[in-house]
Amino acid sequence: MTATATLTRHAPDNADSRVVDWVDSIAELTQPDRIVWCDGSAAERQRLLDEAVAAGTLIRLNPEKRPNSYLARSNPSDVARVESRTFICSEREDDAGPTNNWAAPAEMRVTLTGLFRGAMRGRTMYVMPFSMGPVGSPLARLGVQVTDSPYVVLSTGTMTRMGADALAQIGPRTEWVPAVHSVGAPLQPGDADVAWPCNETKYIVHYPETREIWSYGSAYGGNAILAKKAFALRIASKIGEQEGWLAAHMLLLKVTNPSGRAFHVAAGFPSACGKTNFAMLKPSMPGWTVETIGDDIAWMAPGPDGRLRAINPEAGFFGVAPGTGHSTNPTAIATVQSDTIFTNVALTDDGDVWWEGLTEETPSHLVDWLGRDWTPDSEAPAAHPNSRFTVSADLCPSIADTWDDPAGVPIDAVIFGGRRATNVPLVAQARSWEHGVYIGATLASERTAAAEGTLGELRRDPFAMLPFSGTHMADHWQHWLTVGERLGRSGQAPLIFQVNWFRRGEDGRFLWPGFSENSRALAWMTERIEGRADAVDSPFGLVPVDGAIDYAAAGVSREDWDALFAIEPEALSAEADDTDVFLARMGAKVPAAVMRQHAEFRARL
Ligand code: GDP
Ligand code: PGA
Ligand code: MN
Ligand code: MN
Repeated sequence: MTATATLTRHAPDNADSRVVDWVDSIAELTQPDRIVWCDGSAAERQRLLDEAVAAGTLIRLNPEKRPNSYLARSNPSDVARVESRTFICSEREDDAGPTNNWAAPAEMRVTLTGLFRGAMRGRTMYVMPFSMGPVGSPLARLGVQVTDSPYVVLSTGTMTRMGADALAQIGPRTEWVPAVHSVGAPLQPGDADVAWPCNETKYIVHYPETREIWSYGSAYGGNAILAKKAFALRIASKIGEQEGWLAAHMLLLKVTNPSGRAFHVAAGFPSACGKTNFAMLKPSMPGWTVETIGDDIAWMAPGPDGRLRAINPEAGFFGVAPGTGHSTNPTAIATVQSDTIFTNVALTDDGDVWWEGLTEETPSHLVDWLGRDWTPDSEAPAAHPNSRFTVSADLCPSIADTWDDPAGVPIDAVIFGGRRATNVPLVAQARSWEHGVYIGATLASERTAAAEGTLGELRRDPFAMLPFSGTHMADHWQHWLTVGERLGRSGQAPLIFQVNWFRRGEDGRFLWPGFSENSRALAWMTERIEGRADAVDSPFGLVPVDGAIDYAAAGVSREDWDALFAIEPEALSAEADDTDVFLARMGAKVPAAVMRQHAEFRARL
């Protein structure tokens, strides 16, 4: 009997034999020193936290300032998702489409087997069974991730329902997604470890047909918490296409108007474009309330009643820290008061955290995300622009009591948005589901720090899914059209809208105050659903009539309001030309409906 086989006997008695065999085979390949099956208990979490502090991976924050909270500083090269190292390895290249990196699965398996051989030597392999969605919900799905990173175990423990309850769901006929993760930094006997092990070589690989995930070389959330982007978006978008449901990069919220009527909204914005903030919105309008259901991912399926029903498959928030402050997002500030892991933010002299935008006053001395002394004179920001907080959803004061309803919530509106300095109006309603799919398909946004790449550069990010689609992007569009037709037959398709909080004036400042004032656009959308608000047609769709939104109450001048909806024919026609190029690049699979909508957009200019 090999040493590895001895170790796997620590599997819980009720573990399905396929899971045990799979864990065994990964251990055989990666050669960890130890195997730990995670039960998801509080005691296990505390033990891992204590070990991570002892190892230097986590810094315990001052418990009087920030109870049960920790700071992690990553390797400076491991701070964001690596889209250039992310692969969709479908059998046929055409099923991955022009927006994904592709490699033949057989070749990729050879490459990865080479990299993973012995990759966990000197380390512990943790086995994490998890459920995406409330355990036992008809919309939930199961997975098992192995990892050699305690930081990834702690993060997964917050972001998913991880542990014994999920394992108990896996029987001989249950489908579960296997996910293998290694930081790619084996230790030889006597080697000292580093605080944040990782490897310069990185691979984030998905096999959509066999529903497997392999990730190597990074411990950054989006690359390593495989339940999240890899499973709940990339693999799930493939499963959803096969089974008739939608995996979307969307927040979910519940908004209630002053007469007590509630609406549920799903909104897709690219990474670092305002999902978490919108999900936790504190309306500036009296009498309105917003409650949070999810902040990043929605799984939506036509329900037995013919309506689109959505769950948040996650259990926590992996939020952008910079820009999150008392005035912009007090709800997030309250959420991270305790029991939070912060990554790559700055450390204050009294053992608390700080980042740009947290307070109006900048502390006179900090230790920056790289561990260096920092003062307001320092040139670089104290917190990395993509620094993050990881916290449980149930600590969020605005969490809806239906957030983990196994049946999901009925969706009334779908919103698309991005960061657009020009062209795109504050808010517009799509004329039809088909027009809405066109808006989603041609969505563009300025690049953010959430992934490697040039900040600010405008790029197409269809459905805010560019980095997250496990299929051909045009197949994704067709799938949305098909689901919309089905919902339309029962007359219950949600309305679709587009928003843009980021339009700028000629002087470069944002024309719209954003944050809590976004409630004014949201309120107008609910009034459209109720048939109470008027709109006028524009090339972008239906926009509010004069007086439908009280911009003055938001502190916006008439001039700026007009600029938020200004149509600049030359710039728009240049954008339409760019859309031609983009659609041509998507190839022959682009649905006729999208081409028809594009022709109509041109005709309306
Ligand atoms: P997510 O990554 O899509 O969840 O985006 P976040 O909600 O974390 O926001 C990303 C960044 O955009 C943060 O720095 C926010 O402060 C900023 N942001 C969010 N909403 C708005 C808004 O309405 N207006 C402006 N100007 N910035 C915003
Ligand atoms: P975000 O999530 O959308 O909140 O930025 C992380 C990501 O998309 O990488
Ligand atoms: Mn995201
Ligand atoms: Mn977010």
